[in-house]
Amino acid sequence: MVKKTIPLILLTLLISIIKVKSQETSHFFSEKDLITTGIYYYPEHWKESQWERDIKKISDMGYEFVHLAEFAWFKMEPEEGKFDFAWLDKVVGLCVKYKLKVLMCTPSATTPAWMRTDYPETFIMDGHYTRAEHGTRGLASIVNPRYRLFVEKIVAEMARRYGQNKDVIGWQLDNEPDAKPDYSASSQEAFRQWLKKRYKTVDALNEAWGTAFWSQWYNSFEQVMIHNTNLVGWWGNNPHALLDFKRYCADAQAEFLDFQAAILRNHISKQQYITTNYTAVSTGSDPVRTKKLDFAAYTAYPNGGSDNIGELGFRLGDSRVILFASAYYKQLGGVSGVMEIQPGPVNWGSYNPLLLPGTVRMWLYHSFAAGGKLACSYRFRQILYGAEQYHSGVIQTDGVTPSPGGEEYMQFMKEIKELRKQYRPGVKMPEKLATRSTAILWNLENYWTIDRQKQTTQWDTWNYPVKFMEIAKSLGAPVDVIPETADLSKYKVVIVPAYEMVDSALVKKWNSYVTDGGHLIITCRTATKNRMGHFWEGKLAAPISGLIGAQVTATDMLSVYGKGDVLMNEKHYDWNNWSDLLLPNQGTEILASYDNQFYKGKAAVTKRKVGKGTVTYIGVATDNSELEKDLLRDIYIQAGATVENYPPGVFVYWRDGFYMAVNYSSANYTMGIPETSKILIGEKILKPAGILVWKE
Ligand code: GAL
Repeated sequence: MVKKTIPLILLTLLISIIKVKSQETSHFFSEKDLITTGIYYYPEHWKESQWERDIKKISDMGYEFVHLAEFAWFKMEPEEGKFDFAWLDKVVGLCVKYKLKVLMCTPSATTPAWMRTDYPETFIMDGHYTRAEHGTRGLASIVNPRYRLFVEKIVAEMARRYGQNKDVIGWQLDNEPDAKPDYSASSQEAFRQWLKKRYKTVDALNEAWGTAFWSQWYNSFEQVMIHNTNLVGWWGNNPHALLDFKRYCADAQAEFLDFQAAILRNHISKQQYITTNYTAVSTGSDPVRTKKLDFAAYTAYPNGGSDNIGELGFRLGDSRVILFASAYYKQLGGVSGVMEIQPGPVNWGSYNPLLLPGTVRMWLYHSFAAGGKLACSYRFRQILYGAEQYHSGVIQTDGVTPSPGGEEYMQFMKEIKELRKQYRPGVKMPEKLATRSTAILWNLENYWTIDRQKQTTQWDTWNYPVKFMEIAKSLGAPVDVIPETADLSKYKVVIVPAYEMVDSALVKKWNSYVTDGGHLIITCRTATKNRMGHFWEGKLAAPISGLIGAQVTATDMLSVYGKGDVLMNEKHYDWNNWSDLLLPNQGTEILASYDNQFYKGKAAVTKRKVGKGTVTYIGVATDNSELEKDLLRDIYIQAGATVENYPPGVFVYWRDGFYMAVNYSSANYTMGIPETSKILIGEKILKPAGILVWKE
């Protein structure tokens, strides 16, 4: 009896903790408002006499909040220890006057000139031990104790001043935290401390880093320097030392954000949230390492002058940016939003074309459809001077005329106001979608290890997992990106793409998921290393060979022009950049085999039933994703789900009772929706940059 009640109590406790956490995050946003919109305004860039006109305009355009103070340290602390907030008070007052809320930012990304002249040690050093200069942003050494003291002071001053202000809805920390490598003395010391904490003894460090190789051996932690590829060269790199440096940089970045969050928390009201604006593709910062943020927002600049889908793709932008970021950043706190959305051409693309009319609105809808709780844009007025002169704003250089992006933003906000009237609380995800629910397992550490040792220049480390997201979306599945700690049982299908480093606990978790009825898809380059990045003293991918029911006997890759052939269900598929040769155990089904090269006939894809579920191993990576798409389609169907077949660039979502579709392709696409559907916004024929919102 006692034995039975303890787990029940624990379970109830756990459920209530989970409930409290999700309520905590969602209480910052009103469900019925669906999404709230805002804009970056930098009063310090404009004449004080124009502030009121600008703020009124922001309000008239339909925005709901203003993003302030992000890079304004020089104005808030013009001299060391002398703070001036009178100007900011005035701007906040104007926001209140025009019924706008304020999102306040900590200014740690740009330090005042006195910091560099008086305290040069607060700046990072690059890999040639050159100290960074004053004049741009993101160059402070975030582990430097003196810089920390200054950050602590300014953040506390701001928190005391605005932390209880009811019109301040939240805080953005820093700007696009990117876990920059820093080779300064402060960072060398912080890295050694990080290593001591992780390894305790230098012997453990030597073992983990494999320092017996090429006499890299250390007698004490004091001898350790950050392994510096600028000086040891690519060939001489130690992959384990470099992996730890990446981990340390990400940990230091997360700890720096938590440090700021803790200072804020001492002063601010519970109604104000704390977040930051990670870049959409953040290969250095790892959002799940932070502990004190309420949620993570992202910045999205889909159009940096690249070709994308079809002849209009160069105007529509990269469809993967919002697709992935909107799911990825939900890993923290369960919600996300776009903090910066490109308002028009930028100044930093390889070329900066005009956007196809409708594109900004489509991006806004995309991030909203994917669950976004806020949509903010960089920036209100196009700046007349400085490094970002050519970067558009939602207001043109005359200071009063909305840019095409500004017009589209206004349209979006008007439409959201209409959609709010159609919102009904408590609507559940339709069954046809729930039966396709899919998760992609993600651990940034796998990106770091594989990208350092790609083995073929054709391997696209970041986009390989993203391609599975594109495939699942094209089949109509709702897709989450999840960390290892997530509950897998919520998903019908879990995809584990190129997951190089594993341990036995993780493989056990996968096993249980499948046994309980899940459909697991594991791909090539999974489980080839332990968490330190060492190979197993065993066969390739040894820890999963029991689970997948096959041995990976060898791996191959072809020249850029080489053409591999795989046969599945009498259909031929090309592959080029990666193949695992599989030796299936008895009872394991072979779904596809290689059909050329000297190993013709060897298995490329296998499937095995385990308990109530299945595990499929995809050993080959194709460039056009056709094989992977055909496989996934079959897996959904066999799992009892129906599937869609959306073309590349067309993404369909469901949230809060609304279906939404966006089209990044260069061709019209007619959405097949039930006759009885009610179209709320847009048309069934989705033009390029078109959107459709409907209810079924
Ligand atoms: C972002 C950054 C903004 C602005 C913008 C320009 O990455 O966060 O501050 O510089 O780029 O596109």
